[in-house]
Amino acid sequence: MPVQVKRLLIAFAVFIALFLVARHFLRPATFGEYGHYRGAALKENEDRPIKYVNMNETCITCHDSIAAVRDSSVHKSINCQTCHGPGYKHVDDPQKTNIVKEHAREFCGRCHSKNPARAKVIKQIDMNEHNKEDECISCHNSHNPVLW
Ligand code: HEC
Ligand code: HEC
Ligand code: HEC
Ligand code: HEC
Repeated sequence: MPVQVKRLLIAFAVFIALFLVARHFLRPATFGEYGHYRGAALKENEDRPIKYVNMNETCITCHDSIAAVRDSSVHKSINCQTCHGPGYKHVDDPQKTNIVKEHAREFCGRCHSKNPARAKVIKQIDMNEHNKEDECISCHNSHNPVLW
């Protein structure tokens, strides 16, 4: 075997040994317990608090009149928490301050502002043209936005 090849083999052996040593020290303890991931990650995810409460039902028990308005409207497919944010704190202790009530034009624009990349199933308006002096909710009821 030529001496250059021997030297290369030694260099490789050293690199592989270093890699194995580094891997031994850097690998998290529960890695590979169930598959190619940290076993402890399952427990960590399970322990996270659930921020979104059970779909619409929980909100409806207290806000049935609003739910009825929404259910009869074009916004019926939108979950309360899509617009009002996660409801876990509010459901535990209902207060105005622990639930989002956003109504700026930009908020409605998240779904309705004109954007060529957006699916046409949602009606789009030009935010700089469409009644730009007023807030959307001064004309449209957010839970039943059609005016006609
Ligand atoms: C246990 C009854 C109860 C449940 C369940 C409940 N709410 Fe409420 N909610 C209230 C009460 C009471 C108020 C009025 C609080 C006040 O006037 O201080 C309120 C107020 C609100 C407001 C108005 C906040 C404001 O700034 O005026 C919004 C929005 C709201 N709730 C959304 C929701 C959503 C979304 C859900 C489901 C995730 C939900 N609520 C579940 C009782 C409830
Ligand atoms: C498309 C977004 C959207 C959805 C979906 C939605 N809301 Fe609202 N909601 C709003 C906006 C915006 C306001 C603020 C209206 C205002 O300030 O006049 C509001 C206001 C409220 C209020 C305060 C009382 C009022 O009439 O102003 C309550 C309570 C509320 N929503 C509950 C709900 C519940 C319960 C659901 C699900 C059944 C729901 N909302 C679904 C956007 C939404
Ligand atoms: C999470 C996305 C979302 C948000 C936020 C949202 N909408 Fe909608 N909106 C929809 C969908 C989906 C429809 C049903 C499809 C359609 O008709 O465009 C709809 C329908 C409408 C329509 C009826 C359009 C038509 O002629 O059929 C109006 C008006 C409207 N929304 C106004 C508003 C206003 C005002 C706000 C803010 C308070 C708002 N929307 C927030 C998704 C959204
Ligand atoms: C001064 C009242 C007024 C304000 C403010 C207003 N709208 Fe409208 N909107 C209307 C009227 C009237 C129509 C129906 C006639 C039309 O299409 O212009 C309409 C139609 C729509 C439609 C349906 C468009 C279509 O293609 O059929 C959407 C979506 C909409 N508005 C969303 C919004 C949003 C989002 C805002 C806030 C950024 C807003 N509107 C602010 C009065 C208003």
